[in-house]
Amino acid sequence: MLYFQMVIMAGTVMLAYYFEYTDTFTVNVQGFFCFDSSYTKPYPGPDESSDIPPVLLLSLVTGVPVLVIIVGETVVFCLQVATRDFENQEKTLLTGDCCYINPLVRRTVRFLGIYTFGLFATDIFVNAGQVVTGNLAPHFLTVCKPNYTALGCQQLTQFITDANACTGNPDLVLKARRTFPSKEAALSIYGAVYLAMYITSTIKAKGTRLAKPVLCLGLMCLAFLTGINRVAEYRNHWSDVIAGFLIGISIAVFLVVCVVNNFKGRQAEQEKSPIDNLAQMPMISIPRVESPLEKYQLYHNCTSSRISFTIVRVRHHKSHPRIL
Ligand SMILES: *[C@@H]1O[C@H](CO)[C@@H](O)[C@H](O)[C@H]1NC(C)=O
Repeated sequence: MLYFQMVIMAGTVMLAYYFEYTDTFTVNVQGFFCFDSSYTKPYPGPDESSDIPPVLLLSLVTGVPVLVIIVGETVVFCLQVATRDFENQEKTLLTGDCCYINPLVRRTVRFLGIYTFGLFATDIFVNAGQVVTGNLAPHFLTVCKPNYTALGCQQLTQFITDANACTGNPDLVLKARRTFPSKEAALSIYGAVYLAMYITSTIKAKGTRLAKPVLCLGLMCLAFLTGINRVAEYRNHWSDVIAGFLIGISIAVFLVVCVVNNFKGRQAEQEKSPIDNLAQMPMISIPRVESPLEKYQLYHNCTSSRISFTIVRVRHHKSHPRIL
């Protein structure tokens, strides 16, 4: 099973690579109206000169969650060892007979693995959107430098569809055709939402009732500002940023609720479930949600699709499934 997941992961990374660094997928060429004022904003310079350059964004989006999850899991583990809770739960095996993996390592790898997968998935969604729509950036005409005389622009209503209308730097023109949705907005909100949900469901210490929301809203605020900054610097339209936010939030919520099961452990599932094994079997079920039992199975079809690492429940968790 582990190999299968690694193959999927490698495929995801490859696809993201092809979108980012090659021109395998040709960008849709959109036309424009002569002198259209939506696209004549000044060129803000390359991405590296932005207030939030790509290097800073990528290191925050990868570094902060890695740090928080490793520290969080270590603290959870140490608390379990200190309270001797660990001995009861130690025997959860990875695949039944062959190997025992420390629950600390197992949980950390699982949460970070899913996070990384989601990061590449977000990147693929965003790039696919950009390539398919080919929406123009607010500074498009500034870098395109069309020769209005040669194109015959007498009136503003004239629509130019000529793919070779631009005389500017081809690389900048190509980049200005890839704006919908905003990649920066999607990646930053994805990281913020995933981390916020991790913090909310993992930290159970007393006295953090207000600290947790402050931390989570602070993360969301940073992501929000990253998106807004794109509009302020004429790199994206607000609609690009909103679409990016929606993609990032959707992927994070889906992964946390359906795949990592709200960061809860295996034991929480076992306690409430004699028919759990039944739900693990690959069956095709017609979704009728009349009886409580069927609702329950439907919920499990969603939760049992997680990666095969099993994890140990954090102490003091309520065992009821909670869907955000
Ligand atoms: C624009 O096109 C016209 C007519 O083809 C040509 O005379 C003129 O030199 C061009 N201008 C630029 C800046 O290339």
